[in-house]
Amino acid sequence: MIYKYIEKASDKLIVLLHGTGGNELSLLELGQIIDQNASLLGIRGNVNEKGMNRFFKRIKPGLFDLESLISETHKLKSFINQFLSEKTVKYDDIVILGYSNGANIIGSLIFHYGKMFKGVAMLHPMVPIKNFLVCEQNSQKIFISASINDPIVDLKEAITLEEMLVAANADILMKWYSSGHEISNEEITDLKKWYNKL
Ligand code: MLT
Repeated sequence: MIYKYIEKASDKLIVLLHGTGGNELSLLELGQIIDQNASLLGIRGNVNEKGMNRFFKRIKPGLFDLESLISETHKLKSFINQFLSEKTVKYDDIVILGYSNGANIIGSLIFHYGKMFKGVAMLHPMVPIKNFLVCEQNSQKIFISASINDPIVDLKEAITLEEMLVAANADILMKWYSSGHEISNEEITDLKKWYNKL
């Protein structure tokens, strides 16, 4: 996978997954705002939809190509494992953060693999796979943000996602905004507070 890695003298790593049309650089600034001392790994989605990078194919907006989603989920897991095994730095604290399409593949990743990270932040996510038996989350700490005015994500999606993860024993902080699909300043402030308590 194509990525951008910024190494800092710290045992903390934030992995960043962009939304549709973004790239490996899109969320680096947000990562820096959250923790200026953490190393950052921005990853680019493998799929190209009419020139826009994504982490998996979709049939139409809001309807995912599950075959692509599942195969890209396993590829992302292998990439992260491979990346970490090649580094001399051993990270104690890994937080993964995704926005929109990036949040959706993170949802699939933790649905399939359960607890993998110190913290998981999903900004404006949807339910990645419906009727899925979600793996045990072992109190994995998850931040979910959603907006009551999101034109892309129906608010029921965010609620169902939260319910599915709570049923699998995740430790969730769910925050609601009125901003729309964009990441708001208020959301960044809440995200930073959540991160600092991990
Ligand atoms: C998706 O396709 O993952 C969602 O619709 C969000 C997005 O468009 O990125």
